[in-house]
Amino acid sequence: MLALVVAPDAPGSLRLAEAPEPRPTAGQLVLEVSHISLNRGEVTFAGSRPPGTVHGYDAAGVVLHPAADGSGPAAGTRVAAFGAGAWAQRMAVETTAVAEVPAGVDPADAAALPMAGLTALRTLRTRDILGRRVLVTGAAGGVGRYAVQLARLGGAHVIASVGSAARAEGLDADEVVIGLDGIDRPVDLILDNVGGPQLVAAWQLLAAGGSVQNIGWASGEPAVFEPYSLFFVGAAKTMSTFGDVREVGPDLATLLGFVAAGRLSPEVGWRGTWQEYGAAAAALLGRNVPGKAVLSVSQ
Ligand SMILES: NC(=O)c1ccc[n+]([C@@H]2O[C@H](COP(=O)([O-])OP(=O)(O)OC[C@H]3O[C@@H](n4cnc5c(N)ncnc54)[C@H](OP(=O)(O)O)[C@@H]3O)[C@@H](O)[C@H]2O)c1
Repeated sequence: MLALVVAPDAPGSLRLAEAPEPRPTAGQLVLEVSHISLNRGEVTFAGSRPPGTVHGYDAAGVVLHPAADGSGPAAGTRVAAFGAGAWAQRMAVETTAVAEVPAGVDPADAAALPMAGLTALRTLRTRDILGRRVLVTGAAGGVGRYAVQLARLGGAHVIASVGSAARAEGLDADEVVIGLDGIDRPVDLILDNVGGPQLVAAWQLLAAGGSVQNIGWASGEPAVFEPYSLFFVGAAKTMSTFGDVREVGPDLATLLGFVAAGRLSPEVGWRGTWQEYGAAAAALLGRNVPGKAVLSVSQ
């Protein structure tokens, strides 16, 4: 089969090339992939994986072979999937990491959901956000656009932080700010996608008892906390890591249900074929994709 495989000498360290067919375990189904989506982390770090590895995590398509243990959807079911080796004509994926795509939902939109949507959903679930002030940094990106929408669905007052005025387009937040300018009151929850000096500044905006979920570090810049700047008298402020992608099937089904009901936009800002991977990756790293980049996979 064909796949986007790690090739250190290729542009972006990935090449469309022959790869072995997936070999499913008893609890895995085989998906015939129709669409994949890109995430900043995968694109940035592709070159650090062993050459020949089939890359990527987000896919949508049709079940080709159901799991041998009888779990999961039947052959022919349209599903979205999250798992290693997704950027291929076929992938083996745990049945606990897929969800059926509801009628009326485009598979390209379904492929845009897994990594970014699940991350936004699960980080928001760490807190009771109803009526709380939630700050989302990197709000114009893949995770950010889902986080803004889901936080609004959850009844939060949402402040979306973007890098420039142009990147604010289409963001349905209570407040949209450039960097952290103009945030005049403390916030209860911060979903931070950017890291670096902005994370240090954002910490100072946190209310007593508030929490920062450190999702990503798109800036690539170090964060330097001055001595005692993390010291606080009162209800503890916390900073947490996020990377929990266990048993994602039910949460993926929730996201797909929101899309089917018109309550969540998949936010696909770049569409093309997987032959155009290089251009899509460059646009993503250049901060030129509003939301997600989705590529169709030819069989
Ligand atoms: N922990 C996890 O499980 C998990 C899951 C998914 C993603 N992540 C990480 O979370 C971060 C966001 O992922 P994503 O897929 O949403 O990425 P993305 O679509 O590329 O969005 C990144 C956002 O960061 C902002 N940004 C601010 N400073 C930046 C800089 N110096 N360089 C590049 N971007 C900068 C950009 O803002 P503007 O658009 O306003 O320019 C952009 O909207 C990444 O670091 C990713 O690796 C972690």
